[in-house]
Amino acid sequence: MVKLTGYKKAKIAVLISGNGSNLKSLIRFSNLKVSPISINLIISNNPKSRGLRFAKIYKIKKKVFDLKKKNLGEKKMLKYIKKNEIDHICLAGFMKILSKNFIKSFKGKILNIHPSLLPKYKGLNTHKRVIENREKYTGCTVHFVTPELDSGKIIIQKKIRINKKDTSHIIKRKVLAEEHKLYPKAIMRIFNR
Ligand code: GRF
Repeated sequence: MVKLTGYKKAKIAVLISGNGSNLKSLIRFSNLKVSPISINLIISNNPKSRGLRFAKIYKIKKKVFDLKKKNLGEKKMLKYIKKNEIDHICLAGFMKILSKNFIKSFKGKILNIHPSLLPKYKGLNTHKRVIENREKYTGCTVHFVTPELDSGKIIIQKKIRINKKDTSHIIKRKVLAEEHKLYPKAIMRIFNR
């Protein structure tokens, strides 16, 4: 459990690679008075991330890091995050796997959202695999990030029913809508609110 002193909000960096719909929901949540967090940084590995536009809309600092040279890129990113006195990192559609060293330097303070009921369907193309296996349910999970992909301690999950006619596009839409509610709930939970 994370203890906050006084009413100071915890400073969060959100890491994205794409659309940033989870980023948007986290920003809106952070702007609520009851929210224990503020979003202070938006970071992407991809200069074309649509989600980067939220930096301008919500007046949040943004920065792109080239992570093709992983060591060097991560080193710069870590330095920038530390300089900005960030307390926690939220991965939201961030498509790069962070190194052991990076994760170690933010131990227990990196969260991720994944579009399946972990430990089932780790990795990519979850919805497609869920359909192929004729699952009746899928869902989404917020978990702590550890060096092993999609395997850290689960904070919260939401189960979603799959209808027979659901395509992977429909499932994606349903799951995303739930993700937008789940990430804020996970944050409330870890900050004991
Ligand atoms: C979400 O489904 C999330 O679970 C996964 O990537 C997707 C990101 O969507 N890790 P968005 O960029 O937040 O819209």
